[in-house]
Amino acid sequence: MVRIAVLISGFGSNLEAILEAVETGRLPGVTVAVVVSNRAEAYGIKRAIRHGVPVVYFPLAPYTKAGRSRREYDAQLAAILQAFDVEWVVQAGWMHVFSSAFLDRFPSRVVNLHPALPGQFPGTHAIERAYQAYRQGEITHTGVMVHLVPDEAVDAGPVVAQEVVPIFPEDTLEELEARIHAVEHRLLVQALYELCCASCDQTAGTSEVAAT
Ligand code: GRF
Repeated sequence: MVRIAVLISGFGSNLEAILEAVETGRLPGVTVAVVVSNRAEAYGIKRAIRHGVPVVYFPLAPYTKAGRSRREYDAQLAAILQAFDVEWVVQAGWMHVFSSAFLDRFPSRVVNLHPALPGQFPGTHAIERAYQAYRQGEITHTGVMVHLVPDEAVDAGPVVAQEVVPIFPEDTLEELEARIHAVEHRLLVQALYELCCASCDQTAGTSEVAAT
């Protein structure tokens, strides 16, 4: 089995998409070994529990309050994931930028989801910023990308999958958000299939299995 960790900070709809894909055989050979949240109120924790997946709540604040560094936090979290025998780490709405103290433990094995195209709107509120940019005539469309995380650059790294998402003149922000999230849920599963399953899956036949 390919053991993955999913890291969340909020609603967890992308976590749900991964769990449903695993449970319905669309990510053959993959198991979600652990879900980590750095926020106690993250609804994704409830989703993980509902699916019977172990949850680790691991906030940064106690570290910084105790005068310990982000690097110590990162190293400790990496050790926790290694104790779960995790091979891939998926940042699905994870609000924390890892240092090399974490990334060096999982070289080319950390995956991030960003609700915009490569190089566009890195950081928080990407969808809102794209919506405003469209209304000011600066862009004609937006998108979603899944990429590897090689270093501390925010929402940047080798692209695994990307997809353009149209914006329409009559769109409300909520409508654009819904369209982007629907693409995220599909693209993240597709990217994980390519990374974790495609080379070892002899039974599924083609990657169309993951794209449905
Ligand atoms: C997603 O839009 C993701 O791209 C962004 O945060 C959001 C998380 O959504 N980084 P959810 O928690 O998976 O519902």
